[in-house]
Amino acid sequence: MDLQALHDVVHTSRDARRAQSLPKFTPAERDTLIKKYHPDHREQAYRPIMFGPNVGDRTVRELASILEGESPISADLTLLPEYSVDVLVVGGGGAGCAAALHAHEAGANVLLATKLRLVDSNSVMAQGGMQIAVAPDDSPVQHFLDTLKGGHMKNDHALLKVMVEEGPSIAKWLLGLGVLFDRDADGNLHVKKGGGSSKERLLTCSDYTGLEIMRVLKDEVLNQKIPLLEFAAAVELLSAQGVCTGAVLQDLDNKRLVVVAAKTVILATGGIGRLHIQGFPTSNHYGATGDGLAMAYRMGAPLVQIDTFQYHPSGGVYPEQLVGALVTEGIRSEGGHLVNAKGERFVNELDTRDVVSSSIIRECEEGRGITSDSGKVGVWLDTPLLDVEHGEGTLDKHFPAMVKQYERFNVDIRKDPVLIYPTLHYQNGGVKIDENSETPVKNLFVAGEASGGLHGRNRLMGNSLLDLMVFGKRAGLTAAARAKADAQGPLTLDHLARFRAEATRHGVKNQVASPMVLPAYTRKP
Ligand code: FUM
Repeated sequence: MDLQALHDVVHTSRDARRAQSLPKFTPAERDTLIKKYHPDHREQAYRPIMFGPNVGDRTVRELASILEGESPISADLTLLPEYSVDVLVVGGGGAGCAAALHAHEAGANVLLATKLRLVDSNSVMAQGGMQIAVAPDDSPVQHFLDTLKGGHMKNDHALLKVMVEEGPSIAKWLLGLGVLFDRDADGNLHVKKGGGSSKERLLTCSDYTGLEIMRVLKDEVLNQKIPLLEFAAAVELLSAQGVCTGAVLQDLDNKRLVVVAAKTVILATGGIGRLHIQGFPTSNHYGATGDGLAMAYRMGAPLVQIDTFQYHPSGGVYPEQLVGALVTEGIRSEGGHLVNAKGERFVNELDTRDVVSSSIIRECEEGRGITSDSGKVGVWLDTPLLDVEHGEGTLDKHFPAMVKQYERFNVDIRKDPVLIYPTLHYQNGGVKIDENSETPVKNLFVAGEASGGLHGRNRLMGNSLLDLMVFGKRAGLTAAARAKADAQGPLTLDHLARFRAEATRHGVKNQVASPMVLPAYTRKP
């Protein structure tokens, strides 16, 4: 069926939609909707973890499998270090760069190792903005309350307090480094409203906020001459009597193993979208394979809230090249309607993501979705409405990256609505950390998406970029201070022997190679 013919209904139903009143869910109705339609509640997708710090806890099968998987490192590897540093940062996204910069500034000898190129990460792909309470009618307390409500009251209060309170100082730091956040006509920082937020709190750089932030952080890492290893994937940690003492990297060009002795290690390895949980497409970058979770778990670090994931409401459905790619919430925050095949709105587009995604899935499962040429189902996002309501040129001005992304495939989002469906976007949980980003394993820090607890069971838009900066900074500073106080410990793989023994005790024979490093569909050289 020709999509062009199908989306006529979006244009012809605008007047009726403007007059339409939207469903207002009671808390009980929200709960029922989420339980019935949100992918987190598909029991068959889950299983208990068989051994390790989270034995008995349920998580999705794809993650359980890599947590229980086999390290690529054999016990007889000669642990002769090629590098000896105070702080090893693993990951070249927002949290990794922030951690490396702050540790370096605190006087530590830092090595930044990243699996792909510096900055290849979910951070650089972030579109919609960064939540920071800078508006005169806003406050960190209000930010705290919105985030708690969005997270179903399951957020770690101590982590959340730190994040919202340190937000304004992070804005100042980034502005000082040269990040060009959008301004209003008076030159003040322009703020937008994200889903589930009571105030306009999103600092943006058009629809390429992450790209702009990472442009500046990358420059800064290079300007500071922080030693950098690209295409070097961490595949195992090193330990001595339960304390982290370094890591083994794999040079992806020639598969050579590189041993790094480090007084402290900061894992900033990002998310797990490329595990394609439950077969979902993802908005995540190519390297988002959950490597940090697997390595930290083997080392004995417990995970929290690993039964909850974020399926962003608007992932691309058409064209095929953009399946799963993010269509920023910013479009809904500027008034874009979600529209079903009958030309109706069916949810408040700025409700929390779990509610919006559940509503889209409900529309599609109940036959009110639209089927693409390749048989994928979605609903419309009325992008042309923004130019209709706010004047021609609005999309070009506020969403230039999105306009171009679709233009490449001959879709003009100024004229045609976009077909969308939830896409795997974020892991709400991760490795347990304290307010300084340290895990219960001494000298092992985790910052950013690989950590858990801050966002509860549903992250609000724009809180991830702030999380990266706040906890990247705290990890960097604390690790640098620790490295000054502690001597380098011996390098052993004792934790691996313990982990393997535990697997055997539980009768688990899992041959899956872990960490995954690159998705299974990677073309082999
Ligand atoms: O929709 C978005 O632009 C995504 C933002 C986020 O996940 O924070």
